[in-house]
Amino acid sequence: MSQLNDLPGTYTRFKVEPYTPNIGAVIHGLDLSQALDTDTQDELRHALAQHEVIFFRDQRLTPEQQVAFTRTFGNVAEVKAFFPRLESHPEIEIVESSAELRYAANNWHADITWREQPPLGTSLYAQVVPATGGDTIWASLTQAFESLPPAFQAHLETLTAVHTWEISGWTEYLLRKDASGEELRAARAKYPPVEHPVVRVHPVTGKKILYVNSTFTSHIKGLTRSASDALLTQLFELARVPEFQARLKWQEGTLAVWDNRSTQHYAVGDYFPQHRKLHRITITADKTF
Ligand code: SIN
Repeated sequence: MSQLNDLPGTYTRFKVEPYTPNIGAVIHGLDLSQALDTDTQDELRHALAQHEVIFFRDQRLTPEQQVAFTRTFGNVAEVKAFFPRLESHPEIEIVESSAELRYAANNWHADITWREQPPLGTSLYAQVVPATGGDTIWASLTQAFESLPPAFQAHLETLTAVHTWEISGWTEYLLRKDASGEELRAARAKYPPVEHPVVRVHPVTGKKILYVNSTFTSHIKGLTRSASDALLTQLFELARVPEFQARLKWQEGTLAVWDNRSTQHYAVGDYFPQHRKLHRITITADKTF
């Protein structure tokens, strides 16, 4: 994968329209159902690193074409167990909510930070959207870090946080599925808590990122529980600052790709019982950053 400095400084293959001054861009002039040449792919990786979440409108993609396009940004993973997957394409998770099954990831998170090597990013493609509501919001944790006073930044850079799926509601979910606790015990053994620095450096932009999220970060190592809770509460609030956010109103055919290293996201759960369905592909990271 190219580094930012190896990539072109301007975009020649498509038009980039900033979505807000601080995060997000709409990419114009590409039909993602077609194979993209190397220069276009390089520029797209650059745009993702620079803008942190990029949006494409009015795309008409088969599952295979979404998978092929998503490979522009890295390898794609087979789905984990939580969402159903598309039978024909095990890389695609179906994120769906309807009158019968109400679901929204309406909590601030970066995906799967409870793994040693969290994903690099995600592509999410709208199949069915509610007439109103069901937006997704992304927050820039680069902007969040840069907003802090230098002495506080320096202090945060000395800290390590613990991340675990167990605080996210999955414990209750697994117990509902299997009251014997067998599934919960197996998940605990397979995915124990992991540690990540509180501040990480983006491998492409070199920018510093505040790397804690309220869904999966349980505590800061070496602090008392109350000191850790107080600090994390303060840091979690930064994802809620409107100036660091981009809020997308989905249309059928909209595709978003986000950088899971530098952003968190929140799916607004205001549209029930309307139907909402998206196809999601996780992009794996080739190394921990
Ligand atoms: C997710 O958290 O990956 C789902 C986002 C969404 O439903 O908008």
